[in-house]
Amino acid sequence: MSEILNKAREYEKEESAKIVKENRPVFHFSTPVGWLNDPNGFSDYKGEHHLFFQYYPYGTYWGPMHWGHAKSKDFIKWEYLPAALAPDEDYDNFGVFSGSAIEDGEEQVLVYTAVEERKEGNKKLIRQTQCIAVGDGMNYRKHKNNPVIKADLLPEGSSLEDFRDPKIWKEDDRYYMVVGSRNADGSGQIALFSAEKPDEWKFEKILDKSENKVGRMWECPDFFNLSEKQILIISPQEMEAEGLEFHAGNNALFLVGSYEKENFNFTRENIQSADYGLDFYAPQTLVAEDGRRVMIGWMQSWDNPIYPANHSWSGMMTLPRELFYKNERVCQLPVREIEAYRKNEAFYGNICIEEERELAGISGRSLDLELSLKGNEYKKFRMKLAADERHYSEIVYDRTEGTLTFDRTYSGLRKDSITARSMKVREENNELNLRILIDKYSVEIFANGGEQAMTSLIYTDVNATKMTFASDGKAYMDIKKYEIEVK
Ligand code: FRU
Repeated sequence: MSEILNKAREYEKEESAKIVKENRPVFHFSTPVGWLNDPNGFSDYKGEHHLFFQYYPYGTYWGPMHWGHAKSKDFIKWEYLPAALAPDEDYDNFGVFSGSAIEDGEEQVLVYTAVEERKEGNKKLIRQTQCIAVGDGMNYRKHKNNPVIKADLLPEGSSLEDFRDPKIWKEDDRYYMVVGSRNADGSGQIALFSAEKPDEWKFEKILDKSENKVGRMWECPDFFNLSEKQILIISPQEMEAEGLEFHAGNNALFLVGSYEKENFNFTRENIQSADYGLDFYAPQTLVAEDGRRVMIGWMQSWDNPIYPANHSWSGMMTLPRELFYKNERVCQLPVREIEAYRKNEAFYGNICIEEERELAGISGRSLDLELSLKGNEYKKFRMKLAADERHYSEIVYDRTEGTLTFDRTYSGLRKDSITARSMKVREENNELNLRILIDKYSVEIFANGGEQAMTSLIYTDVNATKMTFASDGKAYMDIKKYEIEVK
């Protein structure tokens, strides 16, 4: 093992042990220590779910990237494992960037982007290439033939610098990989490669490209079939805002279409935001043993990050979510495994909400809520959460506009950051249904059976646990609350 990896392993072991459970989220994955961004290598190996992640253990800010590592039997309780990769070769001296993993016989194969900083004359050059490392679920050897893919395999004019985030899968005894890239027009494209052996790749096709219409660089692709559709996930940078569907800056998108495997033809039919909240990026999926397609995302935004105060960790993942295709949309709901951690149920049926009020038994900072709203006599419904005398975050449903807004303006932020975002929602049979997962530092909202998701961070003092409900006319609400406890 290299000195650099060994140092990271010793450091994280010592420092993560100092963080008490009370100072972490209850049911969301958080970095052992230091900084975390993208999920990497989210995949099953020997019957367990593995999660790797972009990781800088030594500070709560982005630094030379390592791969952190954890595993879980149920997507909820995670066991930290020693860091898997460190930037310890010439070809990855600037960092081991995002990538993915597969189970391959007895072995686990990791595919990652090596970033090399190289001097040419008095200029510094950055080169990104794809590399592999093979291991046993704990320790990994970087392959002697690394890098296994260089940008010179890409079509003429493609960037040598922006070429990253390989997602690998195996099908009919062949390996496939999609990688984010930038083509001659400066905007994003997704390249497909295939291989008989994981160290000998061949360029197949550009699956889709931005043409400067869907942002600039396309990061973190994933590519899979979901019911009758083929989904290409991308995380584009530098997008322009469009209605309430896309916000400015980094977005995470589902490109929905069809796929002809014989000639690798992907035909995009439509684009959908993967999440409408303030903090969601770089999602990745796995297929569980029972066939479920499960997605996890980084719960943060590059453009508008907010950080936990006074902690030696910074970075969490969303709750893993089951994907399914319904009503011409890619839908998502929290993995069903969370239901095993529910306790202390409280329920109010058809309760009339008008003046702002609390409901006995409905409060807290680790909750799974199911809520439905009915009635024709109100225009705006407001729900405050994580509230105390001074602070709250608010979910507002505007029936006239057909929008749902999450607003953390008064959540206790001390920087002038973006605090609210809205999405279009529709009622189904005159009812709006919401599932809301509140953890100490985050709120995830799923509208209408998962048709839309909205994920945002809050770093309000954890003693702010109050919830209130109000409406400007008679609104009728069913609400079920569970507390989530993870021992
Ligand atoms: C996305 C990303 C990836 C890159 C990684 C670096 O958030 O920019 O494209 O591999 O983060 O940490």
